[in-house]
Amino acid sequence: KMDTFINNLMSKMTLDEKIGQLNLLTGGEATTGSVVSTDVESKIKNGQVGGIFSLTTPARIRKAQEIAVQQTRLKIPIIFGQDVIHGYKTTFPIPLALSCSWDMTLIEKTARIAAIEATADGLNWTFSPMVDISRDPRWGRISEGSGEDTFLGSEIAKAMVRGYQGDDLSKYNTMMACVKHFALYGAAEAGRDYNTTDMSLDRMYNEYLPPYKAALDAGAGSIMTSFNDINGVPATANKWLMTDLLRRQWGFKGMVVTDYTAVNELIDHGLGDLQTVSALSLNAGVDMDMVGEGFLTTLKKSVQQGKVKQQRIDAACRLVLEAKYKLGLFDDPFRYCNEERAKTEILKPEHLAFARKAASESFVLLKNDQHILPLKKTGTIALIGPLANTGANMPGTWSVNSDLANTKSLLQGMQTAAGTEVKILHSLGSNLLADAQYQERGTMFGRDIPRDNRPEAEVIAEAVKLAQQADVVVAALGESSEMSGEASSRTDIEIPEVQKRLLQALLKTGKPVVLVLFTGRPLALKWENENVPAILNVWFGGTEAANAIPDVLFGAVNPSGKLTATFPQNVGQVPLYYAHKNTGRPLAEGKWFSKFRSNYLDVSNDPLYPFGYGLSYTTFAYSNLKLSKNSFKAGESITASIEVKNTGTVEGKEVVQLYIQDLVGSSTRPVKELKGFQKISLKPGESKTVSFKITEEDLKFYNTALKFIAEPGDFKIYVGGNSRDVIEAKFVLAPL
Ligand code: IFM
Repeated sequence: KMDTFINNLMSKMTLDEKIGQLNLLTGGEATTGSVVSTDVESKIKNGQVGGIFSLTTPARIRKAQEIAVQQTRLKIPIIFGQDVIHGYKTTFPIPLALSCSWDMTLIEKTARIAAIEATADGLNWTFSPMVDISRDPRWGRISEGSGEDTFLGSEIAKAMVRGYQGDDLSKYNTMMACVKHFALYGAAEAGRDYNTTDMSLDRMYNEYLPPYKAALDAGAGSIMTSFNDINGVPATANKWLMTDLLRRQWGFKGMVVTDYTAVNELIDHGLGDLQTVSALSLNAGVDMDMVGEGFLTTLKKSVQQGKVKQQRIDAACRLVLEAKYKLGLFDDPFRYCNEERAKTEILKPEHLAFARKAASESFVLLKNDQHILPLKKTGTIALIGPLANTGANMPGTWSVNSDLANTKSLLQGMQTAAGTEVKILHSLGSNLLADAQYQERGTMFGRDIPRDNRPEAEVIAEAVKLAQQADVVVAALGESSEMSGEASSRTDIEIPEVQKRLLQALLKTGKPVVLVLFTGRPLALKWENENVPAILNVWFGGTEAANAIPDVLFGAVNPSGKLTATFPQNVGQVPLYYAHKNTGRPLAEGKWFSKFRSNYLDVSNDPLYPFGYGLSYTTFAYSNLKLSKNSFKAGESITASIEVKNTGTVEGKEVVQLYIQDLVGSSTRPVKELKGFQKISLKPGESKTVSFKITEEDLKFYNTALKFIAEPGDFKIYVGGNSRDVIEAKFVLAPL
């Protein structure tokens, strides 16, 4: 039915109208580049607009859609997109934080709620999930993905697509997902945004590509190209990537859209003028051009000059029309313009309650000496720091639709939670950054971060005075929301110096200090880990962070988040990730340096906090790792089981992690790879046996001929509560 409808429609379309469908414009606001679309209304009338993004509310979208379906020759509806990344008005924790929940049901539900709210506000297409693997915390956009791991990243990619798209894309409350950024955007050299990527096929196929493929296999309707070049050819003009791999090898049938002005940026990549790069990009496999209008202004000429085939334009146009068809826009162009839904389904109490839960599940307890946490609900708490009294900072990067004005600060949240039982004192303590830096880059560093222009010593002294009157100090420090995310790379990944000086002064008071750490990336916290007794990493927790943080600080919720990106000891270790190769000169177990081994003179190879790490207010003991047999063949399976016991005094959740190592292979294999995980809940004293079924499929990898195979031989499994502290066993995959 869809084919007949689209064949019929396309038979009536002129070349100009077809090219018009390939044009994606902004609604004239909220942009992430220097170009803003102009004359949008007249372009719609002229049939020159296929999609619009960053236009919201049913009224405004209805107005634009009316022009498309009432005033154009063929009445083709427009698709409306937006960066709905971690929630909509109800904003959930940043994606890196959400991934630390290791809870696929929860993550799927955050995407579902995001879709309910976004579609209630007129949208039907989201530029999410962002599934770029990143092992470089200098890269600001590590905050937008699911961390360093391929397996976990793939699971999360699938959950997000399910959440957005549901099982029927044409429903009024589902929206089309757009997997991004294809491809390898997270591997930018030196963590500098938009930078070159150069990668072996081994690493690409085994480590970086699987999450994109997983999201597409889960049914994602569209994919976005990345800004970077890949082994010499920019992704947006990369035929191997978009045609050979995406279409031929993976069989993707959906629509390919560029990133913001990415076609035009091919000029700066050095590929030619606008006409040349637009033709290159379309011929390579791009269907829709975001904002730059290279397609709109040059493709016709390229067809006339024989540089672009009409069939290629037809194919791209067809995919755009198919997306609209699947969304039900030809049935009812106003399906997503329901004012009543906009009033009742956005910021619903149950969405907010879920945001609170999601936030508390994403926090990672990094340190907790002498059980400082949870805090007692008595006495006096001094809440100090530049991030304590700002609500707008809570949602973090990419929260364009977030209800910032009504997002509470930690101070407000703590005051509510404390009630009359605890006295909360507050002082700024320090600015976010030292003056010179701040003045130079101004608001680039954060929304609504309070500042004090008095001399630093005076501001710190005031905070120290308050700390002395308190029983415990809670220091709200770290990064502001705008210090991570797009175009926010850092070479220094420590807490800004000025805040460290405050922390030192607070510690000198001798009062117990809890560091509540705000960050969008793994930070290097060696000094803090050595000197601060308790560290709770709260990332950027979203609309309900101000309630969720006290939930955990006071113990109403026991933290259970586990890191999904390694925290290094210092920036010089980067990239540092658990699934590294062994090398021919590995360091012997237990050593931190040996001459002529693969290591550094000045710091051990160890991370500060490994992948999968996170503490709880209780403790868990792992014992009795058993394999159902020692050897199995393709077509069979074995089961690994382990006993996990809650050895503490409160109920808690634990993420039980299974890693596998292929000991001998035709190519080098990582020392460990995550292959399974289960999040369980245990009462004090309770034990559970957790089982993982292992099949040949779990042992497969892309060999040097890019064949996805499992090689018979010896394997090790490791099971534990993080990637470092594990129990191991051995098994054999026997030849057939
Ligand atoms: O979706 C984003 C992308 O992640 C970065 N550049 C801009 C796009 C549209 O806002």
